[in-house]
Amino acid sequence: MTTYVTTPIYYVNAQPHLGHAYTTIVADCYGRFRRLMGEDVRFQTGTDEHGDKIAEAAKNNAVAPREYVDNISAMFRDTWPLLNIQYDHFIRTTDSEHIETVSRILQEVYDRGDIYFDEYTGLYCKGCERFLTEKELDDGNCPDHQKPPEEISETNYFFRMSKYQQQLIDHIRNNPDFITPERYRNEVLSFLSEPLEDLCISRPTSRLTWGIPLPFDKNYVTYVWFDALINYVTGIGYPSSRSFDRYWSVAEHVIGKDILKPHAIYWPTMLMAMELPLYKKLHVHGHWIVNEAKMSKSIGNVKRPEELIANFGVDGFRYFTLREMSFGLDASYSTEGIIDRINSDLANDLGNLFSRSLAMLKKYTGNVVPEPAEKDETDQLLIETTEKMVDGYISCMADFQFHKGLEAVWKLIRHANKYIVVNEPWSLAKEEQSRSRLDSVLYNLAECLRILSLVLEPAIPQTAGTMQSVFGALPDIENRIDLRAGSAWGLLEPGTRLGESPPLFPRIDKKQLQADAAKVKQSKKKQTKTAKQQDESMIDFDRFKELDLRVAQIVAAEPISKSDRLLKLTVKAPEERVVVAGIAEYYKPEEIIGKQVIIVANLKPAKLMGVTSHGMVLAAVDGQGKTKKLVLSTLAGQVEPGSKVS
Ligand code: ME8
Ligand code: MG
Repeated sequence: MTTYVTTPIYYVNAQPHLGHAYTTIVADCYGRFRRLMGEDVRFQTGTDEHGDKIAEAAKNNAVAPREYVDNISAMFRDTWPLLNIQYDHFIRTTDSEHIETVSRILQEVYDRGDIYFDEYTGLYCKGCERFLTEKELDDGNCPDHQKPPEEISETNYFFRMSKYQQQLIDHIRNNPDFITPERYRNEVLSFLSEPLEDLCISRPTSRLTWGIPLPFDKNYVTYVWFDALINYVTGIGYPSSRSFDRYWSVAEHVIGKDILKPHAIYWPTMLMAMELPLYKKLHVHGHWIVNEAKMSKSIGNVKRPEELIANFGVDGFRYFTLREMSFGLDASYSTEGIIDRINSDLANDLGNLFSRSLAMLKKYTGNVVPEPAEKDETDQLLIETTEKMVDGYISCMADFQFHKGLEAVWKLIRHANKYIVVNEPWSLAKEEQSRSRLDSVLYNLAECLRILSLVLEPAIPQTAGTMQSVFGALPDIENRIDLRAGSAWGLLEPGTRLGESPPLFPRIDKKQLQADAAKVKQSKKKQTKTAKQQDESMIDFDRFKELDLRVAQIVAAEPISKSDRLLKLTVKAPEERVVVAGIAEYYKPEEIIGKQVIIVANLKPAKLMGVTSHGMVLAAVDGQGKTKKLVLSTLAGQVEPGSKVS
């Protein structure tokens, strides 16, 4: 059996965060599980490096795109080992093999007549890197990015996606597992119940040069999705490689629900046009929510993996994400939540079972696995519970129900802790005639822990490794002794000498952690204080860089009825937005239409007298009190609306 599992390739317009880490942990956990089942697994992740957003991010950082993408891509590559991610291939869309193949595919699909040239006017969301339909908008805004899309009109190349609509519907209907969980399958089918539009796949080089040129028209480059999605086949050597033949038919993509449409609609229809079989499965998960909003770089409430690993350990982090999120649904991240999980499940349940059992084995048998005697009812029940756990675990993991798989494992862990309480090994140790009973109990605990160390490997590999170093329990993957065979009860040989082991999970002291965090804050404050003493007005350049200052052209201005201080301005920066300015006492609306001013473009939207303002206009304050006057910031020359001010 073979498995090919992929993560999305992440945009390099920002650093890795909890969301990227989650998808990658899931794919890793699944890959490890399949390997443990004796399968040949290929796991691919990587970075998506072309497009508007990235060219813009490079510009904002004042570096060339190439240098910029090299840096951020390396950040992703360097993060994964910290999380014990075992990938086989890291693909970059700037890899020359990828670029060549994308170009060849474009030519083939064009030659077959499935790519055509046309004029299009549509609402384009830069955040999504695609055109949105009116229906998708939420109060005029993109529902994911809470910004109005831009109306763009240009000639472009289009992929005849509509041609494959029925074929796609049939495929989804005939393959109930093609998109899972089911809610997303239903969402896609419902979307497909309306006529599908063709897909715009190019950008003119006058607007964007950071992309793969169309082989049949050098004035255009491909627009993100036609480039990015193809990574899944170029990464295994399409068109001519044994890896491709081996892995493509079993491909399973893991994604967040934000990119459902590109994966469930664009990609399968592209594959049809490429005359390739479709991937096997699409696994769609929900979003991590932080402080009641989707965690995302554009909202700015991100959690960094390095910080989480430093505070909670790699396995604490991995376990929490896999156990806390029901695959497919949203879940909330909070420091409280992760500490509670770690303390109750890892430190208490698992940690205690392990340390108590090993302490007793050391004390009563000198760290040698004893010979079990006849089984009593409690032993039978422990063995049955273990076998049931293995079955339940395997079917949940194969089904992407990681939280349920782990729940099944923890049921056994709690049962084994009770088994200790019920059998009281410390009492058995007091009497010579109960020696054989003591041996049985200790053997059973050791055997239970050995089997636990196998099933825990996909989720918490480091801890499982520590446990395995005590019991010598690695399944022999070379010889295909898999999880199923390796978890058969009774494989642990009496007489085996056990290794020493440190405690698995120290409890996390919430108060201590808070105190540490406060200390760090304090010392940061102190540092800035000393700087302040040097010069009250100094800030770091980094702080300044956080401000998105832009030139905005005022296209409309009107008074706000309830206020004699405020004007409602409609500006172009370069997209149209409404900005409320407190300048009504100093300017008449008609005087300022057409003026170019400077705005702070990344202020959180604020409602003023019932009008939502998306930014703030800069003005000089002249005089004080009754003579106070505001004078708008303007420019010494005419520039493109939206130009950055730095
Ligand atoms: O969309 N919760 O890249 P991207 C859970 N380059 N997962 C999250 C998340 C959150 N709050 N935020 C992000 C792109 N993710 C394209 C993909 S694939 C051919 C091209 C994860 O950097 C989740 O997997 O925006 C989501 O689908 C992905 O990051 C989006 O990453
Ligand atoms: Mg995104």
